[in-house]
Amino acid sequence: MTTHRLLLLPGDGIGVETIAEVERVIAFFNEKAKGTAFDAESDLVGGAAIDKHGVPLTDDAMAKAAAADAVIFGAVGGPKWDGLPYEVRPEAGLLRLRKDLGLFANLRPAICYSALADASSLKRELVEGLDIMIVRELTGGVYFGEPKEIVTLENGKKRAVDTQVYTEEEIERIARVAFDLARQRGKKVHSAEKRNVMRTGVLWNEVVTATHKAYAPDITLEHILADNCAMQLVRNPKQFDVIVTDNLFGDILSDEAAMATGSLGILPSASLGAPDAKDGTRKALYEPVHGSAPDIAGKGLANPIATIASFGMALRYSFDMGRQADLLDKAISNTLAAELRTADIMQQGMRQVSTAAMGAAIVEELGKLGV
Ligand code: IPM
Ligand code: MG
Repeated sequence: MTTHRLLLLPGDGIGVETIAEVERVIAFFNEKAKGTAFDAESDLVGGAAIDKHGVPLTDDAMAKAAAADAVIFGAVGGPKWDGLPYEVRPEAGLLRLRKDLGLFANLRPAICYSALADASSLKRELVEGLDIMIVRELTGGVYFGEPKEIVTLENGKKRAVDTQVYTEEEIERIARVAFDLARQRGKKVHSAEKRNVMRTGVLWNEVVTATHKAYAPDITLEHILADNCAMQLVRNPKQFDVIVTDNLFGDILSDEAAMATGSLGILPSASLGAPDAKDGTRKALYEPVHGSAPDIAGKGLANPIATIASFGMALRYSFDMGRQADLLDKAISNTLAAELRTADIMQQGMRQVSTAAMGAAIVEELGKLGV
């Protein structure tokens, strides 16, 4: 029997409700999956941690995350904590997890379930069958570069600076992740940067080109300016297979690609560290792409699919349970095909269900598929 240790960090807002549905899925696997068990504990992050401990992530919770085989994260933030100092804002908890666990590779699939193609703001024919993987560098760039400060000048006016910085090693390792993923998929990588304006873009372009030549000549590589990439994502999104980009462009492009699929409420993500030199395991955190949606929190309106699908990515990328991950994806698409909808993706003629009812329906479907 293999036991996988999970740390659940529901956080704030709808994170609490959607992680509860992941617990339902975990309970199902613990009951049905032979030879594997999940040992899940929970802790606080974001505003919930601030309310209890005064910080968005305690050292104790950080240590639990470092010891876990995977962290399943809900969402953080909300108007209640908007006025807090920058250092202790809820998002700082998430950024510390990413940085301290070394989760440099953020995988954000943008998949359009056929049943939801009409919910997209783009035309059905543009998005039906869409399957893009955005690979976002997650521990470098302008998110973490120093100096990062606001200073008061001699004339009494303020000046703010964020620093966009990338090393060759950081670019090469994220490029390799993108090429490896492309090899399992459509064998095409678009690398997005702003080499026409930014020095980091020039280096990014050079290093991705060199990595491609040395490591992945079997993959088609295209360089694209990040602004053009944003435009192409709404013009003809199906031209993309894998997009690799830096931390800030990845933040923006992944939201854009997500919306093209019909709902932010269905998209998962994985954030992975480097494989351990000894045993090949990697630190990992899985979270929905959507945020804490404070306006609908606690009302049973949230869509649990993104968080459940994030657990599916954990099965695939942390636990070598690709078959079970496929079944979970199938259970989700069957549930959508059966016309069940949470409020965010509700369409005429469909049956609107609560967060918990959607979670229960997916688990029921899993049961039918047999694990
Ligand atoms: C995301 C979010 C985060 C980010 C926020 C919550 C700090 O937008 O995961 O995309 O900017 O990375
Ligand atoms: Mg974002």
